Parts: sequence; structure tokens; C-alpha cells
Amino acid sequence: MQSTSFTVNGLPVSVSADGDTPLLDVLRNHLGLVGTKFGCGLEQCGCCMVLVDGAPTKSCGKALSTVAGRQVLTIEGLGTPESPHPLQQAFLDEQAGQCGYCLAGILISAKALLDDNPAPTRAEIAAALDDNICRCGSHARILRAVERAAAQMAQTGRAGAGR
Ligand code: FES
Ligand code: FES
Repeated sequence: MQSTSFTVNGLPVSVSADGDTPLLDVLRNHLGLVGTKFGCGLEQCGCCMVLVDGAPTKSCGKALSTVAGRQVLTIEGLGTPESPHPLQQAFLDEQAGQCGYCLAGILISAKALLDDNPAPTRAEIAAALDDNICRCGSHARILRAVERAAAQMAQTGRAGAGR
């Protein structure tokens, strides 16, 4: 058992667990960050998406040892109920989602997209979300919500802002 130190949502953490423990298990079971979901466990569905140093990463397939010293962002770090990220507000406004199980992963993938490309086309949004499966079929509303967030962020000058 070893201790691995990294940063989650801006806070330093140190976790004692085998280095090959999936980051998803560490987030949910060691750190209590249950917003990141377990779907397939096989890097196929995108439910478990987090950002590692800004890059969308399926945490079910990411070993704890590989995030030592790195910055991890989970859905809990995106916004708060009092101060939602524009993406979260846009998903609410568009009622994008039904069961909601996929949405943490989709919001994280969408954030990575807008950080890189503040004014994506619909095709670029669809491509960026290609690794995220929504079994409820809410794709049309999800695409609209990302477009709405991008427009809102452009208006407020938030486009490209980190968190
Ligand atoms: S749970 Fe990680 S991709 Fe499905
Ligand atoms: S809203 Fe249910 S899986 Fe996407």
C-alpha cells in the first residue's frame, strides 16, 4: 500500500491505496466524490469522465499511480448549486437529460471542449461528446445545452476561463 498525492478540485489530497486502483474507485470510495459515475467499467461509456490536467479522462481505466502530482477536476469542482457553471445552468435551462446518469461525464467532456474551443459548431460538439453514451437518448437537448452555454459564456466573457 502506498500513498499517492494529487489535487482534486483545487485541493491537495493524499490517498493510501494500491497504485493500480482505478481513479474512479478512489474518487468515489476514498474521497466520497460520488458525482462521478460507474457505468461500464470498461472505458466504453464515458460516465466516469474527469479532467486530468485539463484532458478528458475515463477514470475507470486510469490507475491511481498515474495521477500523482496531477490536477483532477470532477463534477463537484465544476460549480455549486448557488453558483452553477454556465454549462450546468444551460443543461437545466434546456432540461437536457432524463435519468441524469450520464450527465456528470458529459458536462466534464463539454467543459474540456469549451476550454479549448469556446465557439464550437454542432458537429464539433457531437465529436467532443462521442465518447459519452446517453442511454436515455437526450442527445438533441444535450447538444442544444452546450450551444447555449457557449453563447452565454461568450456574452459574459467567461469563454476559455479555467473553472
Ligand atoms: S465507467 Fe468508465 S467509461 Fe464506462
Ligand atoms: S439522461 Fe439518462 S443516460 Fe443520459
